[in-house]
Amino acid sequence: MTHKKPEASNIVIFGGNGDLAWRKLIPAFFNLYINDFMPSKFAIYGIHHQALDEDEYRKHLLEGINTFSRSGKATKEEWKKFSQHVFFFQGDFTQEDTYTRLGKTLEANDKKWKERASRLFYYSVAPRFIEPISIALSSHGLASVEGKDRIVVEKPFGNDLASAKELNKLLTKHFKESQIYRIDHYLGKETVQNMMAFRFANYVFEPLWNNRFIDHIQISVAEQVSVSGRGGYYDQSGALRDMIQNHLMQIMCVVAMECPGKYEAEAIRDARVKVVQEIRSFKKKDVFKNVVRGQYTAGKINGVSQKGYRQEEKVAKDSTTETFVAARLYIDNERWQGVPFFLRTGKCLPKQSSVIVIQFRESPHKLFQKETVPNRLIISIQPEQEISLLFESKIPGVEMKLKPVEMDFTYKESYTEAVPEAYEALLLDVLEGDATLFMRADQVEAAWAKVMPILDAWKSTSDDLLSYKAGTWGPEKANELIQQQGFDWTFLPQPLQPAKPARKPRKAKAAVAG
Ligand code: BG6
Repeated sequence: MTHKKPEASNIVIFGGNGDLAWRKLIPAFFNLYINDFMPSKFAIYGIHHQALDEDEYRKHLLEGINTFSRSGKATKEEWKKFSQHVFFFQGDFTQEDTYTRLGKTLEANDKKWKERASRLFYYSVAPRFIEPISIALSSHGLASVEGKDRIVVEKPFGNDLASAKELNKLLTKHFKESQIYRIDHYLGKETVQNMMAFRFANYVFEPLWNNRFIDHIQISVAEQVSVSGRGGYYDQSGALRDMIQNHLMQIMCVVAMECPGKYEAEAIRDARVKVVQEIRSFKKKDVFKNVVRGQYTAGKINGVSQKGYRQEEKVAKDSTTETFVAARLYIDNERWQGVPFFLRTGKCLPKQSSVIVIQFRESPHKLFQKETVPNRLIISIQPEQEISLLFESKIPGVEMKLKPVEMDFTYKESYTEAVPEAYEALLLDVLEGDATLFMRADQVEAAWAKVMPILDAWKSTSDDLLSYKAGTWGPEKANELIQQQGFDWTFLPQPLQPAKPARKPRKAKAAVAG
């Protein structure tokens, strides 16, 4: 979709001195600004409870841009212009006076700009502040214009189904659903967005995108980073809540959804939510057969020592929180019946590698003597951004010898355009009032409903919690889970020749492919 310049905007970041604002939000606004996507009239207020000198605050933000912005260090000229739009606002989120002063500040801008600017309130705060902020914004009438005023809520969006429902109830009591933007930054990633284009703008793949031709699908988000510095949050959360319930399930939706009738927010969100609703719910006994959890112990990653999870700061010494999950899920609908979706994520793995693998079935007819490798499509989300298709080819020579080769599309080689950060795409969408890439209340609740049986089963015992050494690919049982399907986990970069299937892959249905 093309973007026109958004209308005048007041942007308020609750938690303006926090890590997210520093690393992600301000660098994203800055990049939007230098690429001419910000409104011609805008102001950003970073709210923090302690008093800070505005110049010092701006200097700190500049350091964040210089460290984390994808476009590198800001030039003096760019920063000078941008920083004139950025202000520090001292205020306690729980004090009425904060909102009275904020209201006056926003109104003064409206007056100066001679229009009622739109308002974006970003909740970059601990969950306990969501309620007081929402109540105060509502009682002070600060977000009262439905088509113009929006709130952005960061994860964690609840801690389980009941708390997510509570949170939705609270937010919809104070704002219209159309004003609430629940962010999952994975939906803003360029390669995740490209899934829609790839699937629905290329008719060649769509006829194959179903259980007749696909053996299984892998969605794997491997992280090299530990939980260091975030132990307090992570120990209450774990990989299932932190990654699977949101990011991996969102990717699963984009991979598995039906083509929406229109390229329009509600139609696309309807199509995504339907996928989650149709994920088969686990019975307790099935959880242990289909879900593997692990926790890292001390090890080495790329030769660098890494302490064990239980030795991390603010983590309980006897913690049973999982830092790794691999799960086999099924979607009960006509398209996907019988096709396992393998989801895997973990911290302290050997490398960062987020990939979607569409593993096709083997041809039912064996024309060649050699065991051929079934086709495989890899969509790499990060750090590489590429799509590759593996297929068999004849090795040049007088004999008929085959070898699998890959056809690659890489962003680097195909485009000169820079790939924006997920937050840039998402923040611009909020400024424009486009909710396509945000989660609706029903989707968040549906995703929680699907992970609840796993959380409940885990509550009853921790006997299934396995350990894995930092710097390895997680517990061996996670490999066995996918090997039962006849394959191994795929990660990038890896040698061209795929790992030999552990058992013969299932054949495609002859009636269809023959
Ligand atoms: C966050 C999780 O939502 O996503 C983190 O809380 C995780 O634990 C991060 O590291 C991964 O995001 P990205 O964009 O770095 O893949």
